[in-house]
Amino acid sequence: MRLTVNGRDHEIAPAPGERLLTLLNDRLHLPGTKFGCGHGECGACTVLLNNRLAYSCIVLAEACDSATVTTIEGLASAGKLAPLQRAFIAHDAAQCGYCTPGQLVAATHLLARNAAPDEAEIREAMSGNLCRCGTYPKIVTAIAAASRGDFKNMSSETDE
Ligand code: FES
Ligand code: FES
Repeated sequence: MRLTVNGRDHEIAPAPGERLLTLLNDRLHLPGTKFGCGHGECGACTVLLNNRLAYSCIVLAEACDSATVTTIEGLASAGKLAPLQRAFIAHDAAQCGYCTPGQLVAATHLLARNAAPDEAEIREAMSGNLCRCGTYPKIVTAIAAASRGDFKNMSSETDE
């Protein structure tokens, strides 16, 4: 099957029963999308699949033929972190960081649909992404700051 991940085209034969998360992590060597619960309940594995949020741990890879996928690795562009990523750093919105890739993908999806969400809308949109460290207030603050454009014009090189 063919699929496009972070703008790159791939031709790959999925194994029977293989999940999209495994394909991304192990076969395309994109480790940013995390395994948490494995049951579609925690959001650690959140990606954009054809521009919709998806828990990649429960998506069969073989169902992704011709799909477009965006992972955390696809949010930065031209070596520069996205404004949301800079906002998360500036507002200390990650503690252990394990949930952060999924949080950032979900927040990216939110701001693409609603450029100026209020706090309730942010909390509602992010309700499918759990954080065991309890950084929810800082995550909300970071998303609100990014939505105001606080981090739009700052330049920031990634470490990659
Ligand atoms: S690992 Fe996929 S939702 Fe928890
Ligand atoms: S920052 Fe640790 S799980 Fe969210």
